[in-house]
Amino acid sequence: MSIIRHEFEKMNVTKIKKAKGNKNLTMITSYDALFAKLFEEIADMILVGDSLNMSFAGKPDTLSATLDQMIYHTNAVCTGAPKAFVILDMPFGTYNNKDQALTNAVRVYQETNAAAIKIEGGEDRAHIISHLTSNSVAVIGHIGLMPQFVRSEGGYKVRGKTEEDTQQLIKDAIAVEKAGAFCIVIEGVMSDAAKRISEAVSIPTIGIGAGNVTDGQVLVWSDMLGFFESFKPKFVRHYMTGAQQVKDAVSQYKSDVQDASFPAKEEEY
Ligand code: KIV
Repeated sequence: MSIIRHEFEKMNVTKIKKAKGNKNLTMITSYDALFAKLFEEIADMILVGDSLNMSFAGKPDTLSATLDQMIYHTNAVCTGAPKAFVILDMPFGTYNNKDQALTNAVRVYQETNAAAIKIEGGEDRAHIISHLTSNSVAVIGHIGLMPQFVRSEGGYKVRGKTEEDTQQLIKDAIAVEKAGAFCIVIEGVMSDAAKRISEAVSIPTIGIGAGNVTDGQVLVWSDMLGFFESFKPKFVRHYMTGAQQVKDAVSQYKSDVQDASFPAKEEEY
């Protein structure tokens, strides 16, 4: 079944699962109502990623994001894009055990209109995902390079470089699927390994830095639109030169103010 949408059609878990094998699911991050509204009828899924801690709050990694912040931004996104399938990324430390995870997931459903939550972790966290899904929480897994492990692992490391690691990632994906997740994000994995992981499960996989072998792709909005200038990971494609365009526009505004050409007569009351 092709799910290429000629007209906007709100996504749900069933439709997303049916997209397995189509390689066309598009996920984008968003943190506010303004951009969420722009993405609403284009992307299949909007992820309120904890990457907002870096690109929105300017922090060096995602680890200090709190659930309160994620709920605040998810509410903004859901308000701006009421027709979108919105996912809240559970921040570091909010799903350390199954009871804590369920308490926090219930809070997400009570306080936002998010359709699903995302959890980083494979085999080791499958019991947590299982507890959530058996209590009616829709979960997207996240395996491979997991940014919430950056401090404990001493950096961001591309995965799937050895057969042993690839086998572990395949086990992770299978465990996450068995636990009831409806989709899995695969981040920072060698594309040959990502292909094998994707083929090992019957739920869709969404890649970021995992080649074009997954069932969809996700990019952080500020990366893909060229707003984030600090560094450009290899897997990011810039679809816009956002930072430069903003700087040019604001410089033009400044110069118009300085030479008194703004506001013009037609811009006056
Ligand atoms: O936080 C985020 O934006 C993410 C994506 C990179 C998948 O987890």
